[in-house]
Amino acid sequence: MVYTLGISGINSENPAAALVKDGTLIAAVEEERFNRIKHSKGFPFPQKSIRYCLEHAEIKFSELDSIGVGWGSPVQHFKRELLLALRRPILLPNYKSWVSVYKKEKQYPFFRDRRISYHLHHLSHASSAFHVSGFKKANIITMDGRGETTSTMLAVGLDSRDIRVLKEFSLLNSIGALYESFTDYLGFTRHSHEGKVMGLASYGEPLNYDSIMKLKNQGYSLETLDRYLHMLRRVKRKLQGEKLDSFKALLKKTYGPLRKKDAPITKKHQDVAATIQVIQERVVARLAEVLYDKTGIKNFCLAGGSSLNCVSNGKLLESEFVKEIYVQPASSDSGTAIGAAYLEWIKLSGKPSNFKMEHAYWGPEFTNEQILEELKKTKLKYRYYKDISGTVAELINKGKIIGWFQGRMEIGPRALGNRSILANPTDRKMKDKVNLQVKHRECYDEKTEILTQGGWKKFKDISDNEIVATLNPKNNKLGYQKILKKVKYKYNGKMVRFKNKRIDLLVTPNHRIWAKKIFNHQKDSSYPRYFEFRNAIDLLRKEHLQIKAIEKWKGIEEKYFVLPKIKIEKYSHLSQIHKIPMDLWLEFLGYYLSEGCVCYDKGHHTILISQGKKSRHLGKIQNCLNKLPYKWHYNVKSFRTSNKQLYGYLKQFGKCEGKFIPRELLDLSERQLTILFEALMCGDGYKRGKQCKYYTTSKELAENVQEICLKLGYSIYTSKEIRAPKRKNLYVIRANKGSKTSWVRKNQSNIEDYSGYVYCVSVPKYHILCVKRNEKVVFSGNSWRPFAPSALLEVADEYFENARHDPFMILSFNVKKEKQKDIPAVVHVDGTTRPQTVRKKDNERYYKLIKDFGDITGIPVVLNTSFNDKEEPLVCSPLDAINCFKRTNLDYLAIGNYLVEN
Ligand SMILES: [Fe+2]
Repeated sequence: MVYTLGISGINSENPAAALVKDGTLIAAVEEERFNRIKHSKGFPFPQKSIRYCLEHAEIKFSELDSIGVGWGSPVQHFKRELLLALRRPILLPNYKSWVSVYKKEKQYPFFRDRRISYHLHHLSHASSAFHVSGFKKANIITMDGRGETTSTMLAVGLDSRDIRVLKEFSLLNSIGALYESFTDYLGFTRHSHEGKVMGLASYGEPLNYDSIMKLKNQGYSLETLDRYLHMLRRVKRKLQGEKLDSFKALLKKTYGPLRKKDAPITKKHQDVAATIQVIQERVVARLAEVLYDKTGIKNFCLAGGSSLNCVSNGKLLESEFVKEIYVQPASSDSGTAIGAAYLEWIKLSGKPSNFKMEHAYWGPEFTNEQILEELKKTKLKYRYYKDISGTVAELINKGKIIGWFQGRMEIGPRALGNRSILANPTDRKMKDKVNLQVKHRECYDEKTEILTQGGWKKFKDISDNEIVATLNPKNNKLGYQKILKKVKYKYNGKMVRFKNKRIDLLVTPNHRIWAKKIFNHQKDSSYPRYFEFRNAIDLLRKEHLQIKAIEKWKGIEEKYFVLPKIKIEKYSHLSQIHKIPMDLWLEFLGYYLSEGCVCYDKGHHTILISQGKKSRHLGKIQNCLNKLPYKWHYNVKSFRTSNKQLYGYLKQFGKCEGKFIPRELLDLSERQLTILFEALMCGDGYKRGKQCKYYTTSKELAENVQEICLKLGYSIYTSKEIRAPKRKNLYVIRANKGSKTSWVRKNQSNIEDYSGYVYCVSVPKYHILCVKRNEKVVFSGNSWRPFAPSALLEVADEYFENARHDPFMILSFNVKKEKQKDIPAVVHVDGTTRPQTVRKKDNERYYKLIKDFGDITGIPVVLNTSFNDKEEPLVCSPLDAINCFKRTNLDYLAIGNYLVEN
């Protein structure tokens, strides 16, 4: 027996491992599924995936015959880079990335194994499609952001064995990177939301793209003169391994300003999205033509991140010289593990590959016994059903949303009926229901507090109708919004921590941080200079800024303060005061809260404000007191007056550690809050330049002052000084008007293990909340995806135009007009959809479910979306499924033969 292992990672994205036994793929899995971090960012070595592959085959590591890596060796890499640099001196400053490849591998002893061979990245991509396509000969197109020195490759596969490279396009011609830049330009997350751009493109009309891309006889070119000049200016940074982002600047020049995240999508944006989609489609079509002219072969294999563009794939199929296409379902870099394993098998055996990858189920599988063991540990209600498919089909018909966990896990980005969430596609409202009810928002840990209209609150104490403070990113203005939904779930896993002197955040990896990335050459940067939402995990160990302070606060102006009347005895001569001008009252209250107290002695209700004779504030305080309708006198270091009504009101503030500012005053205008703030500072504060400090022993007052500072545009953090045993703890609020942001350095973020509840709320607009943790205040994010159907292969023709078997959801088809009303929840606005066609021999249980649903409704199609939380990898184990089930609002979980009820 010959075992060959393929791995990806280290120098590419998406670490994964794949095992080939005598030319047959037996296991393939992505590391993210085990460590639960999307794309396994920060953990580039597929350790757990390798372990799974070996366990599945029941072999030891030593029994592997060879190991293939889906990225060129450091020496290969170096040679290629150098050769390229000699041809294009512009690339010379890239030397750093050459060295980094070497350095990264040195960290892992694994790479000292003598059985390891390295395969060029695009060759590995090519192999991952051709060697499992079942074609004897085929044209191969690989496209992605970048390989070692190649971004697009044309090759031909012959005799199910040899791959001959015909043409390579350099990194400067990366269609993948161009697509990513368009994604970024359109305000989406690059490397992640390309699908959204593809979706948006269906609404727009393509614009002129002559200055960006030119089709040529032998392919295409992205190098126009303008772009060269542009690049020269940015050569240094651009070539330090960052994604070729002079593209984005070029887009800005061509199509106008970038779209900011969460800004409304205009017709122009739709047109720009349509432009890149057309570029992608035309490039793919031209490359296919070039290949067909050279080889005369009508079958095509596609791999690499850009091959996941189902619209472009669908169009390619329509070309007359294209007979069949095979797209590797794991088209991102994880697929290179499969490619490298096959390159090794062919090298070792000398035989051709006769294997055809007809489904994506190559990951871990669990028996009913293992599932039961996991279920017993929970308090969930569950029942065994012999006919689980039939039971679930009925539930879906009743409008229930089901977590469907069966058989071996899928490889690649799509859930294909083994780790899926299923729902009824015939119900138009199901799209919103699944989005709102199931797909989760990102969360904060339990120690985080949020600013609400009622002051700072822990997330767990938030009510369903809470009104919370939010930031308008357009003008950095603070406002309040009623929450839409409260999110709370139990979370065991990795969290991202940002911690420095002014920020402390512990959030789930998918949490959206309102941040601005910083680059070394900021002055001449084409990178975004504005704030945007970034996933916490993407900011890990990256320099960035987060917002600490606001620009504007409106608030309300009040003319008068109404002093509550007290009950008085029948014959008392006490005249009660009703209204006091608010400005005056605020100033007085500030002095009182800092320096005052009340005392009752033998019928006298005294109010005291202490102030030494030499105090520089004496005159100011006296002036204020004299304007009040009371008579004050100065005696033994304090101002005194006697008044039962005023005493009655001020009594509520108690002693120092119990003091607070009445809630209604905190919503006053910026001008009035300033009066209060200045008076408070006269007493227990300290001010120098743009910095202030305020000291108090009252926790509540400290929080109130924090809120005032925040509304006045200060960035703040509070420290607690623990003092000698008999003395009270002192809170020190440090406020700074100098900088509205905090710079988070590379070493100020890390991953932490977490077990407990996590929380968040969602708000209708802006999605930026004011939160604090350990008294460090910062503004941070809260948080559509279209759904696709799974249909029986035999009915595909009834529903989709020119339908073909597509087990991987990689092609997009038009839904027949007469059928659109039958499956409204899975039809895109332009009438297209991206269906998975299911055959009995690939997935019997899933096939039966869809068939049973068809028997009930007459429509053998179900809505299928991935079984995971937002921005979380697909669930892998029963425990992942149970955890995901618990924290989402799925109605049922069908796991093995067990049905779990929520
Ligand atoms: Fe790649």
